[in-house]
Amino acid sequence: MKAYIVNEYSEAAKFQQADIAEPTLKPGHVLIQVKATSLNPVDNKMLRADLGINTPTPAVMHMDVSGVVLEVGQGVTKFRKGDKVYGCAGGLMGPDGPIQGALADVMLADADLLAHMPATASFAQAAALPLVTITAWECIYDKANVQEGKHILIHAGTGGVGHMAIQLAKLRGATVSTTVSDDIKAKVATQLGADNIINYKTETVDSYVARLTDGKGFDIVYDTVGDDNIDRSLEAVKVWGEVVAVNPRMQDLKLMHAKSLTLHFVLMLLPLLTGEKRAHHGLLLSEVARFFDQGALKPLIHEVLPFSEVNRAHRILELSDHIGKIVLENR
Ligand SMILES: NC(=O)c1ccc[n+]([C@@H]2O[C@H](COP(=O)([O-])OP(=O)(O)OC[C@H]3O[C@@H](n4cnc5c(N)ncnc54)[C@H](OP(=O)(O)O)[C@@H]3O)[C@@H](O)[C@H]2O)c1
Repeated sequence: MKAYIVNEYSEAAKFQQADIAEPTLKPGHVLIQVKATSLNPVDNKMLRADLGINTPTPAVMHMDVSGVVLEVGQGVTKFRKGDKVYGCAGGLMGPDGPIQGALADVMLADADLLAHMPATASFAQAAALPLVTITAWECIYDKANVQEGKHILIHAGTGGVGHMAIQLAKLRGATVSTTVSDDIKAKVATQLGADNIINYKTETVDSYVARLTDGKGFDIVYDTVGDDNIDRSLEAVKVWGEVVAVNPRMQDLKLMHAKSLTLHFVLMLLPLLTGEKRAHHGLLLSEVARFFDQGALKPLIHEVLPFSEVNRAHRILELSDHIGKIVLENR
């Protein structure tokens, strides 16, 4: 089958087209005819360096997938041949060894990680959803207590994770404030449902906490940025508030103590890496499909390119020259 492989992980790493053997069906798994995949920052981080979760080279990368079931393995009752499915299902080391990613004609995937695609979604839309939506869901529904009456600050409201977080928080009836870097992103975030916009380039934390919360701080802060932004999140949250984060590089945590805060972390890839709690991802994506078909959730797509433009797609992501998701179709 045709695939796009990586022969080394380095700053100079590039994808190359290659012919490789098709994966073999396993119990509990399905073979998917891959129709589309989307890029996530973790793919770029893994491309540039071995994060310890990379598969040996030559590697078929990319985690998000949408496609059509070709064959169903022993014990799988949820799917049949011909079903349209989507999920975040490979492109990294699993508990039993490498799991091939989605940049190929055929992908072997654990059925627990998959769901039926939303009936009204294109393959491109479905491939844009899994990693970022599962992350946002686990952060603001499973970890933080986002509900009506709560005011959440979502950092990076037009990022892959942030734009799904805005929509999920609004579905629960919360008030949403979000950070962006310019007027175009401000407009996009408002269209996604954000109640208040903060341009983090021009407004200080003190200023927006005073303007939007009477100086008290937000009930919940969702930090999808990491690094020194964590400091801003700890400043912006109210006493006894909650912070949810996805990037591990932490700074000084003194404010956590001073404000009696709760800090949550999510590593969305854990079920893929360990094999545990995979069915949670499949179930969650079934709920996401329902919301999508009701018109309540939609992915923001920056660009859809063919697989053959995978190197260009990764450059766009690296330059942060995008708003929303970059999708690749297997044309
Ligand atoms: N732990 C997990 O399970 C998990 C899961 C998913 C993602 N992640 C990580 O989370 C991060 C975001 O992922 P993504 O898919 O949302 O990436 P993305 O689509 O590339 O979006 C990144 C966003 O961050 C914004 N940004 C950059 N610096 C900022 C700052 N100082 N303050 C506010 N916004 C800022 C960018 O907008 P501007 O350029 O306009 O600032 C952009 O909208 C990545 O590092 C990713 O690896 C972790």
